[in-house]
Amino acid sequence: MAVHISNHPLIQHKLSILRCVDTEPKKFRQLIKELAGLLTYEATADLVTAPVTVRTPLEDAQCFELKESIGLVPILRAGLGMVEGVWELMPSSEVWHIGVYRDEKTLKPVQYYNKLPIEPRVQVCLVLDPMLATGGSAVATCDILKNWGVTKIKFVGLIAAPEGIATLQKAHPDVPIHLAAVDSHLNEKGYIVPGLGDAGDRQFGTG
Ligand code: PRP
Ligand code: URA
Repeated sequence: MAVHISNHPLIQHKLSILRCVDTEPKKFRQLIKELAGLLTYEATADLVTAPVTVRTPLEDAQCFELKESIGLVPILRAGLGMVEGVWELMPSSEVWHIGVYRDEKTLKPVQYYNKLPIEPRVQVCLVLDPMLATGGSAVATCDILKNWGVTKIKFVGLIAAPEGIATLQKAHPDVPIHLAAVDSHLNEKGYIVPGLGDAGDRQFGTG
């Protein structure tokens, strides 16, 4: 499945401020929210619609409404900041949180939170996480969602390393990947270079 890198000027401009080491958490959170909305606008261009007739003050208009129900799946913690921006576009979306952190030594994903109901109530899931580094967290989340019964998944992130894209594509070739940038490589600690540092710490003022 395709990798989409947005070259939209608004996205690229906001990304440059987001990356800057001097951008403080309040501004950082605002930018994460705005970028998530802009990227999701592009990522949802192929959602299925159904015709609907709407009565305007003048007469009937032939319109379209979304046919598929959408679930937003932020990967805790860093994906949390993306939710508000996406919710503003699709306020009736359900939000299902998945808690995954990377073990600092092995860089392997560790799941610590999952409160999905037994049956999925949504047809399309947007996995939200700003960083696709080794790809372990994204793969683990897509595994969970597929085991849950979701068949249509899209990954919406901000910055990826080539390694993370390759890993996610190999494990889940049916999941399209939407990003603002693909960076050079991962460093020895698994950080994306040049990246933006730790997306969770920069949002929540930790670290
Ligand atoms: C970060 C980020 C991703 C993950 C990406 O989370 O938010 O979830 O790393 O790395 P990967 O592609 O190598 O799995 P982190 O583990 O730092 O947890 P946090 O969001 O709670 O800070
Ligand atoms: N997680 C982050 O927050 N940043 C990285 O560069 C890699 C993983």
